[in-house]
Amino acid sequence: MHKILLFCDPGIDDSLAIIYALLHPDINLVGVVTSYGNVSAEQSTSNAAYLLSLAGRSDIPIFYGANFALSGELATYYPEIHGEDGIGPIVTPSDLKYNVTPFCELFPFIEEHIDDIKIVDTGRSTSLAMAFNFFNGLLKQVKEIYLMGGAFFVPGNVTPLAEANFHGDPLATKIVLEHAQKVYITPLNVTNRAVINSQIAEHVSQKARNPYTKIILDTSRYYISAYNKLNPRIGGAARHDLFTLYYLLNKEQIDSVQKRVWVELNAGSKGLTHMDFRSPENDSTSPHIVALDFDYERFIVDFINVMTRP
Ligand code: BDR
Ligand code: CA
Repeated sequence: MHKILLFCDPGIDDSLAIIYALLHPDINLVGVVTSYGNVSAEQSTSNAAYLLSLAGRSDIPIFYGANFALSGELATYYPEIHGEDGIGPIVTPSDLKYNVTPFCELFPFIEEHIDDIKIVDTGRSTSLAMAFNFFNGLLKQVKEIYLMGGAFFVPGNVTPLAEANFHGDPLATKIVLEHAQKVYITPLNVTNRAVINSQIAEHVSQKARNPYTKIILDTSRYYISAYNKLNPRIGGAARHDLFTLYYLLNKEQIDSVQKRVWVELNAGSKGLTHMDFRSPENDSTSPHIVALDFDYERFIVDFINVMTRP
């Protein structure tokens, strides 16, 4: 069983990642840290709370994370992709009641789980970088950290060069990359191919009988239509964040390279990621491991199996 603390910014694909984590038999989602990104921190917190409540899992603590990047720059949100409130057409109930745990309580929480906790960050890196700054000795003990972000020698999504999470706060990403013991990265190279099309979404919704059946279908329709407007050739919508959890669970079957990763901070190339590919050899001294290729059919079978669980 993998004990996971998820930093996220739901967002449709973050929402799908939360649902996947709750339904997966091998994942124990122990906490969620919500931040600005696809939507405001306040909205992403309420979205996470709503999703947890649907499965009767309001016992999972939600830590309220960062409101903006370390640079102080205010975020741009993406309603055209994730919907006005971040979960496509879904509006969270206005009378939803939920508890939020202050960020400072993350320290005792991680300390309590330090032996076996894994951190997954599917949003901007700000909150995780703050945790590294405030609780450095403790965070360095976390054995595995997973980041969704970056694009290596492929086009970015938020700019021609950069992927949205690393572009949103590249300084924060740099802090995490420099301080973490081991970071596994799922960049656009792989997540762009983790595409769910309409047929798969409809199939899941017909087969599934869980509290998320309708959300999976409604958000998929919304997300796929947004992707179609951007690039109809994709034929569906990429589940970037969910794929990061899939990677955590299936690393042995996914081609990866161990090389040091750099992220650019400068305005013109902000968020651009690179590594030294002149040699194909792994660098065993690098704390960074980057996913580069995977078996799509296997991913889809897993997606259907997990999302149709009761
Ligand atoms: C990443 O950016 C966000 O919009 C998505 O939720 C995902 O985490 C993809 O670049
Ligand atoms: Ca995200």
